[in-house]
Amino acid sequence: MESTPERMYLDLLKKTLSFMLWPEPPVNIRTFNFMRPLYKRLIAGGLAKTFGAVGLQITQHKVFTEAEKAEGKVWPGYADTMIGMKRLDNLQDCIETVLKENVPGDFIETGVWRGGACIFMRGALAVYGEKQRRVFVSDSFEGLPKPDPAKYPADREDKHHTFDYLQVSVEEVRQNFAKYGLLDERVVFLKGWFKDTLPAAPIEKLAILRLDGDMYSSTIDALENLYPKLSKGGFCIIDDYALAGCQKAVHDYRDKHRIHDEIIQIDWIGRYWRKS
Ligand SMILES: C[S@@+](CC[C@H](N)C(=O)[O-])C[C@H]1O[C@@H](n2cnc3c(N)ncnc32)[C@H](O)[C@@H]1O
Repeated sequence: MESTPERMYLDLLKKTLSFMLWPEPPVNIRTFNFMRPLYKRLIAGGLAKTFGAVGLQITQHKVFTEAEKAEGKVWPGYADTMIGMKRLDNLQDCIETVLKENVPGDFIETGVWRGGACIFMRGALAVYGEKQRRVFVSDSFEGLPKPDPAKYPADREDKHHTFDYLQVSVEEVRQNFAKYGLLDERVVFLKGWFKDTLPAAPIEKLAILRLDGDMYSSTIDALENLYPKLSKGGFCIIDDYALAGCQKAVHDYRDKHRIHDEIIQIDWIGRYWRKS
């Protein structure tokens, strides 16, 4: 791929957002508490509180390989996105294609966590001098919803709502945009559950629809409300296709609407297709 100043900026942005440039520093012992059984969680929480009171921090060291980071197979302590380099490369390809071919519409990610993939979208618009399109940043900013098995049986066993690691406030995400110099009026925050915010979202057309909500409900809510707004030639990117609930939602939606566009693999978990 030709190395232009724009591509060099985007390459650096991807590496910075995914914390590829540095070894992973230790994280506070509380960060991954949600993965521990209750008694260990209580011990770690107690220790963190006691030492925190005197200005000390107990940390744990997680070592990730370069390959794990590239594939987005880790839950990072410091990165602003967890999607890894391959899915960031895919996002860049999709953005460059819609800009080059003038596919109309804004960009959205449903499920943004610390905001990294959306920051990348805004950075790409900025570096290519695109002056109109907006980036919609859609999240509860308080983690995932509790399953509603009566409505969505596929989510019955889903535990994502218990992971406080996935709860990132809208203020923190705003600050993340600001620290890259990319917070402006063309970044539009849609705060709340997808089922509540997406039906009335002020979106006319989309060129990039990136879904990263993990669950059946979160995926189907996004598809039902947003896919009809995706332009012909636009991209639908599914971050969590390897998760059973997400995959089922994708196929239920595609079957119902007779969508036959080829699903293309990005990495171990991500897929996308181009709307014909
Ligand atoms: C895996 S994280 C997203 C990772 C992110 N795309 C990145 O670049 O690292 C999933 C996010 O989806 C959000 N989410 C999932 N389901 C949701 C729903 N139904 N309504 C609102 N937010 C939801 C969570 O709050 C969380 O921030």
